[in-house]
Order: sequence, then structure tokens, then C-alpha cells
Amino acid sequence: MSGSLIIYSSTDGHTKRICEYIINFLHDAKKAKIKSLNEASQVDLSSFDKIIIGASIRYGKHSNELYKFIETNKDMLNKKKSIFFSVNVVARKPEKNTPDTNPYIKKFLKISKWKPSKIGVFAGKVDYPSYGFLDKYVIKFIMFLTKGPTDTSQSYEFTDWSKVEVFAKELDINT
Ligand SMILES: Cc1cc2nc3c(=O)[nH]c(=O)nc-3n(C[C@H](O)[C@H](O)[C@H](O)COP(=O)(O)O)c2cc1C
Repeated sequence: MSGSLIIYSSTDGHTKRICEYIINFLHDAKKAKIKSLNEASQVDLSSFDKIIIGASIRYGKHSNELYKFIETNKDMLNKKKSIFFSVNVVARKPEKNTPDTNPYIKKFLKISKWKPSKIGVFAGKVDYPSYGFLDKYVIKFIMFLTKGPTDTSQSYEFTDWSKVEVFAKELDINT
């Protein structure tokens, strides 16, 4: 049993990018594996000593697949060093960018039967040009309501990569 497994639940790829960034800072980076949630369902979790799951928010929630994965693997996850982080754009607001203040982490902890040993939250990306018509205008409306950017010809990355780096480095120390 050894090494870290990083699992991503990502629709547009940004959470996967964050996972790929985190891996660089792990002491076992060379041995660590990165898998989608789907791929991870075929993996023997017991063969890893640390499991990190990153998941993005879409329309107010983490994916149903994430909760199914947790339900199936909760005993193993609760036994291991296990880390969870959420990616969402509400976290671009300083008052909503910690595990204690981000509404999606609070909701996650209420409904999940997995209690991770460490939790993080990172601001994601709004990539208007890549969205279909409906998503583009719904996101634009949400951004308008929350005083975010509304120019749909642009892409906006809110992720603070130095915060991701600090989080990643802490994984080796505290977990
Ligand atoms: C259709 C859609 C719905 C979204 N809904 C929310 C939301 O309800 N709350 C939020 O904070 N972010 C929301 N986001 C922002 C995503 O969480 C953000 O774009 C994140 O970077 C996506 O990560 P991914 O590429 O790994 O899926 C939404 C994005 C899209 C495209």
C-alpha cells in the first residue's frame, strides 16, 4: 500500500487542472496517480495510502456521481488519509472562500457520509465562449446578480494558484 490517488469530478476540465497542479507538490509526485471519478470506480482504493478528491459545482451542487462514489467507498475513505476540495465560482468572494464559509462545503459536509481529514475550496473559472447558449446566459445572469463579470466574449479564471500550492504542500505535512 503506497502513494497518493487524486480523483477529479470535473465537467469542463478546470478541477482536473487543479488536481494536476496539486500533484506537482506531493512528495510522492512520481508515484501518484490521477483518475476521473469514472476511472476511479475501477481502482482498488485500498492500494493507496492517501486519497484526494476534487469536485466542481454545477447549478448549485456537486455531481450525483460524486455522491454515488462516496456512498460506495465511504468505509475505505473514512479509514484513510482522505482529502476533499470543491471548485466553484462563489469562492471568488473572499468572504466565501474557506471551508467554514463556503456554502457548498457546508452543504457537502451535511449530506456526505465521508468525513475527510482535510478540506479545501478554490475559486474556479468562467469560460463563457465554451458554454452552450443556455449555460452562457444562466451564468451571465448569476454573475450579474453577484457582481461578477458579464462579458460573454471573455474567459475569467478566478483560481488563486498560490493558495492551491499552499494547500498541496500542507497535504504532506498535516495528513
Ligand atoms: C453550467 C454551469 C453551472 C455552474 N453553476 C455554479 C454554481 O451554481 N455555483 C458556483 O459557485 N459555480 C458554478 N459554476 C462554476 C463552476 O463551478 C466553475 O466554472 C468551475 O471552474 C468548473 O469546474 P470544472 O471545469 O472542473 O467543471 C457553474 C459553471 C457552469 C458551466
